[in-house]
Amino acid sequence: MTQDEPTGSQKPSRRGFVELCIGAMGATSAGAVAYPVVAFLGRPASVEGVTTIKVPVAELQEDQARYVDWQGQQIVILYTGRTPKVLSASCSHLGCLVAWDNVKHVFHCPCHGAVFDDQGRPVSGPVSKPLAAVPFQLSEGNVVIG
Ligand code: FES
Repeated sequence: MTQDEPTGSQKPSRRGFVELCIGAMGATSAGAVAYPVVAFLGRPASVEGVTTIKVPVAELQEDQARYVDWQGQQIVILYTGRTPKVLSASCSHLGCLVAWDNVKHVFHCPCHGAVFDDQGRPVSGPVSKPLAAVPFQLSEGNVVIG
């Protein structure tokens, strides 16, 4: 026996290795379960409690859309023709999130291909209803929603 070889108590055992692996898997599983719970409980109360959103018009860019969470739903502030509009970002067919195409000036729904114009009116696809308009006001240079 040389001096570098582990003695009986230092020798890694198969049982010890398996116990270490089981412990690591248990810790990983506990973390995977605990993280979403902690993240949910730790999020700011304002996420769902936001009733009013103010967006400075000066921050909006022509032909651009800004998506915002408002009262638990996705809405989109669209700025075209130097005029803001606020629409629900949920497709009126089955609720998928629509995407703004600033080249064609339309919203596309990735789920079933619906297309809406920049006023939220249906252009093509399996929809007959427009994107829901969200009431807003212009106040002191801000788009105020809610
Ligand atoms: S959910 Fe948008 S087209 Fe069906």
